[in-house]
Amino acid sequence: MDVQTHSAPVYYDPAIYDRRHAGKSADINFYVDKATQVGGPILELCCGTGRIAIPLARTGMSVTGLDTSETMLERGREKASSEGVRVEWIVGDATSFQLGRRFRLILAPANALQLLGVGNPLDSFFESVLSHLEDAGILILDVMNPSLSEIVAGRKSGGQYQDPNTGELITVEWLIRYDDAQQVAHRTCYFSSAQRPNFATDQLDMRYYYPEELNLLVRSAGFRIIEKLGGFDGRPFSHGCRQQIVIAAPS
Ligand SMILES: C[S@@+](CC[C@H](N)C(=O)[O-])C[C@H]1O[C@@H](n2cnc3c(N)ncnc32)[C@H](O)[C@@H]1O
Repeated sequence: MDVQTHSAPVYYDPAIYDRRHAGKSADINFYVDKATQVGGPILELCCGTGRIAIPLARTGMSVTGLDTSETMLERGREKASSEGVRVEWIVGDATSFQLGRRFRLILAPANALQLLGVGNPLDSFFESVLSHLEDAGILILDVMNPSLSEIVAGRKSGGQYQDPNTGELITVEWLIRYDDAQQVAHRTCYFSSAQRPNFATDQLDMRYYYPEELNLLVRSAGFRIIEKLGGFDGRPFSHGCRQQIVIAAPS
């Protein structure tokens, strides 16, 4: 069987993305709660198909979503308009954007920072965020806490979803090759159904941020960390936490 290799069209195919993340609600509830406390206007960076932006907009707050992918945004636009929810969708790069206005709350959820590449992109990411935050504004981001067992080579389960076109049950597996100099996990994603093993693969690079490194990066970019959480249930960040959730304000 031929294996189709894509740069990332299956991983970021909007319909498949929504199917794969259909059962994920803990982060949505967390961000909606935080946004309700902090208030809008809200800017979500790397907003994809609006999985978080649309529930945020349902609260009645002003929500802008920015993403590089027009196809992901188009799906978000369709979903929002079908339920009569208003979100402003902007094609743009989270590492360099100029919208000419400021926001009360800027979000970079769902490991967005890990997708921005290595080196300077993060400097310009934080610069762009700072220049779009109100004086009393808040930045909230989440990234994974690097776990050695996850990074170690080997094929890992990436869950299952029902293919939106064929109805087949698709199994996703990851093979990770970790570059410990750049802290980048080069992930090959394999998609299989019962009849079509490994029918497609995708590549996705994810930069890992170690906890103290992340704190230092956020602080040296001109923020103070108000709170660091270790899960979407609100637990403080500590040993064994899978997530790093940083809540920060301009210092
Ligand atoms: C894992 S998805 C998350 C989407 C959404 N936040 C969610 O939680 O469902 C990551 C998104 O980041 C976008 N993305 C990747 N690099 C980006 C960049 N430099 N600037 C803006 N968006 C980017 C991708 O197009 C994709 O839609």
